Amino acid sequence: MELERVRFSVVPERPYSLALTAQRYTRFPEVVDRFDGRFYRRFLPVGRRGALLSVQQVGTPARAILNATLDGPQAGSPAARLAAERIIHVSLGAAQPVTPFYRAFGADPVIGAAIRDFSGLRGAGVPSLWEALVTAILAQQVNLLFAYDIRRELAETFGQRARFGTERFIAFPTPASMAGEAPATLEKAEIVVVDGKQQYRYMRALPVQSLCLHCHGVPEPLTPAVRQKLRELYPDDKATGYKPGDIRGAMTIRKPV
Ligand code: HEC
Repeated sequence: MELERVRFSVVPERPYSLALTAQRYTRFPEVVDRFDGRFYRRFLPVGRRGALLSVQQVGTPARAILNATLDGPQAGSPAARLAAERIIHVSLGAAQPVTPFYRAFGADPVIGAAIRDFSGLRGAGVPSLWEALVTAILAQQVNLLFAYDIRRELAETFGQRARFGTERFIAFPTPASMAGEAPATLEKAEIVVVDGKQQYRYMRALPVQSLCLHCHGVPEPLTPAVRQKLRELYPDDKATGYKPGDIRGAMTIRKPV
């Protein structure tokens, strides 16, 4: 396998601090966005073999330059460069101008001190709408530690893998890699310890089957009688219009063992 290496630099909107901006990736165990205090790294699933992006800052926040390296058989492709720039500009916020904000709030008694203490920090950016949606849905009504646990498991299950040197990397899963999973195989069982007691937990997806369409399908398969009954008993019913294979939810069981 021929390894290629491509280097390029990005001048971020200044002041910029990679150390402050990427610190959020060290808050929970991460496999996709990795930061060791100096290098931010992420495997990009471009082409068949992908490319590894590494980003390092040189210079103080006021003179910051981001040096990027793309490694791997796909490193020289335009797709890899585009994906890498998107990560740098959006995830790492290099294209986010902060001076108008600093100018407006630098003298603010509350925000001013934070601006000085965290000069160069960028707000959390997400490289695609897809990744933002997946993360937002996972983080609904659960604590972030748990949400990022699920996110990591999703990446470990569906993300493209690669090895560079002695290290393994995992890409954030693409919609196509996750869509390949048949609803029937979406199940998981494990024994967990809750308040010192062992508990068996089981969960499986609840896909729509043809039987369900009698009551949850598009209006046509619903017989006039069913439609009439739904109107009477469930005037606000919105649970129709589903197709076989759509996921309606999940079934969960917990049992002490
Ligand atoms: C005989 C008609 C009928 C069939 C068949 C049926 N359902 Fe339902 N389902 C209902 C009704 C009515 C409700 C609302 C119950 C309530 O709120 O009291 C409902 C509620 C639900 C809900 C929770 C409310 C919602 O819509 O979010 C889910 C999930 C669901 N059904 C999934 C399914 C699945 C999956 C199947 C097939 C395996 C199925 N149903 C088959 C009539 C049916």
